[in-house]
Amino acid sequence: MISSQYSTDISEGFPTILRMIGNTPLMRLDFGTMPMLLAKLEMMNPGGSIKDRCALYMIEEAERTRQLMPGGTIVEASSGNQGIALSMIGRVKGYRTIITVPDRTAPEKIAVLKAYGAEVHICPNTDSHDDPRHYHSRAVQLAKSIPGAYMPNQYYNAANPRAHYMTTGPEIWRQTNGSVTHFICGAGSCGTLSGVGRYLKEQRSSIKIIGVDAETSLYSSKEPLAYQVEGLGIDVISDTFDQKVVDHIIPISDADAFASTRRLARDKGLLVGLSSGAVVHVALEYAKALSSTDVVVCIFADSGRNYLSKLFE
Ligand SMILES: Cc1ncc(COP(=O)(O)O)c(C=O)c1O
Repeated sequence: MISSQYSTDISEGFPTILRMIGNTPLMRLDFGTMPMLLAKLEMMNPGGSIKDRCALYMIEEAERTRQLMPGGTIVEASSGNQGIALSMIGRVKGYRTIITVPDRTAPEKIAVLKAYGAEVHICPNTDSHDDPRHYHSRAVQLAKSIPGAYMPNQYYNAANPRAHYMTTGPEIWRQTNGSVTHFICGAGSCGTLSGVGRYLKEQRSSIKIIGVDAETSLYSSKEPLAYQVEGLGIDVISDTFDQKVVDHIIPISDADAFASTRRLARDKGLLVGLSSGAVVHVALEYAKALSSTDVVVCIFADSGRNYLSKLFE
């Protein structure tokens, strides 16, 4: 029989769910390229994506500043992963969560949001953020009308890039023993790009920081249009996008992102999300001009299981 003293000692040694966020593994990608390609497996976070990191930072900052109080409601506009992370963490901490999503969002992600206890509002996939039917405008309206509601607003929240400056960046530096030369990630709110970029540039300013954008986003296109790749797309240019630490933004088409993501699953055993496919497409292009001393770190932001009906049927 296990004594209570013994079981107490054991339980103290194991982290609970929110402590499982971050410290994700870095894996070598075998594409036969001259530079070493590494992938940071963010689908290993408990909520299944990189967005657990900034959700935790934004919620805990709001608790510290008393913008979020017991019994409060978290409202956010999200193409899925940010909402999933906020719902998972928000519900663990006892808050009501309401997430607005564009109707391009994969049904699996909507089901996951609901499974975590979120109330989901599906909004039309309009081209403009200013359209009152747009999922972002809808979240703003909801946050204003519900007493005790707090909208983290990842696009304008400094805790979003700070999460990556404090965690993702240092992990990559440590895991590569400082040998990283290129960092490539999908760009949406640009929290990952800006936070990791700032940290890595502070360690060695020659490290190249590369963001992958949807080619018809507000940032990359003169005539912005709705697109299908979830996670990517710089449609809000705000302070979470620290352009000083970014060397290149590479636009990618839906077709290239879809094709690359499908190839990774079928040929490489990597069932990853669309932004990971987009990042690999760009990394392989970059790799052609790099040497064996280069080390390219790619972010795999989430799993392909989020997109089974949209991508793999
Ligand atoms: C799958 C995926 N990739 C990339 C990103 C972009 O990350 P960030 O918002 O830090 O730019 C997101 C953001 O939601 C995402 O869900």
